[in-house]
Amino acid sequence: MKKIGVLTSGGDSPGMNAAIRAVVRKAIFHELEVYGIKNGFQGLMEGNIQKMNLGSVGDIIQRGGTILFSARSEEFKTEKGQQRAIEQLKKVGIDGLIVIGGDGSFHGAKKLTEKGFPCIGVPGTIDNDISGTDFTIGFDTSLNTIIEAVDKVRDTATSHERTYIIEVMGRNAGDLALWAGLAGGAESILIPEKKEDFKEIVDRLKRGHDRGKKHSIILLAEGVGSGFDFGDRIEKETNLETRVTVLGYIQRGGSPSATDRVLASRLGAKAVELLINGQGGRMVGIQQNVLVDHPFDEVFTKDHSINEEMYQLSKELSI
Ligand code: F6P
Repeated sequence: MKKIGVLTSGGDSPGMNAAIRAVVRKAIFHELEVYGIKNGFQGLMEGNIQKMNLGSVGDIIQRGGTILFSARSEEFKTEKGQQRAIEQLKKVGIDGLIVIGGDGSFHGAKKLTEKGFPCIGVPGTIDNDISGTDFTIGFDTSLNTIIEAVDKVRDTATSHERTYIIEVMGRNAGDLALWAGLAGGAESILIPEKKEDFKEIVDRLKRGHDRGKKHSIILLAEGVGSGFDFGDRIEKETNLETRVTVLGYIQRGGSPSATDRVLASRLGAKAVELLINGQGGRMVGIQQNVLVDHPFDEVFTKDHSINEEMYQLSKELSI
C-alpha cells in the first residue's frame, strides 16, 4: 500500500472533516501518499482527485460539513459507473480507498473491493443507523443541536401553554428522537422501531394537563411520518393548542462536538491501519468504547437496533 484515497459520500455530518484530517495525517505519518476525492463517488468517476498534504487538513478539525464535498450518485450504482471509477483510481495509482459516509456509501465501497480495490468504511451520518458501531460520526453534535432547539421551544411552549411536536431527522432510525426525547424531557417519543398507541399518547397529554402541566413536548422521528399530520390529530383529540416544528437541516451542520472530533480521529486513523495491514471490505466502528471492524456484509445484514432500556426509561420518566 503506497497511495490511498479518501472521500466523503451521502449526507454530510459534523466531524467528517476531523475524520479526513485523521486519515491524511495518519497516512502521512506512515509515509503513504494520500489523495482527496471531491464530490464522493461522482467525483471519483469524473477524476476529481487531488494530492493532499499535512497543510491540506489544517484548521478543519472544528469545522462542520466536509472539505471534500459530498454527493449521492445514481451513476456509480451501475457497472459502467464503477468501471469509470476504477479507471480513475488506476490512472493515479491509488491502491486503497477510505469511504466516510453511511451504509448506502458502503455498498459502493463493497463493490469496489470486490473489483480489486480494497475499501474501508468510516461511519459518518447524523442518523446513528449503522449496525456494528455504537455511534456514528455526527450523531452527538446533531443531538446537541436538537437539544438546544428543544430547550428553546420549551420556553415558548410554557409561555403559551401549548403542545409542541418537534420532528427530527434520522431517516428510518429513531436514535436522534429517542436520545433527544430522553435528554429533553419529552412527554412522548415516536420512533419507527416502536409502534405507539395513539390513545396512550393522548391520555398522557390529558393527564398532564389535568395535573396543571403548562406545556408538552413530543419528539417525532421523520421515519414515523409527517409531524404536521400528527400535530393535527393530536389537536383534534386533545383540544389542546398544538404547534409543529420541523428542525430540518440545522441538524446536519455546525462545529462538531468534542465527542465527535475524538470519535472521527480514532475511526479515521483506524481505517488507515486496516488498509496498511492489507485489509478491505470492512467498516470500522466503536463498541463499548473499543475500536472494532466488521465485514460490510455483516454490517448490511444486521439491523441497527435502538436501546430498549433507554426507550423503557423514557416512558417511565414521562408518566
Ligand atoms: O442521512 C442523513 C439525513 O440527513 C437523514 O436524516 C435525512 O433523511 C436525509 O439525510 C436527507 O437527505 P437529503 O439531504 O439527500 O435530502
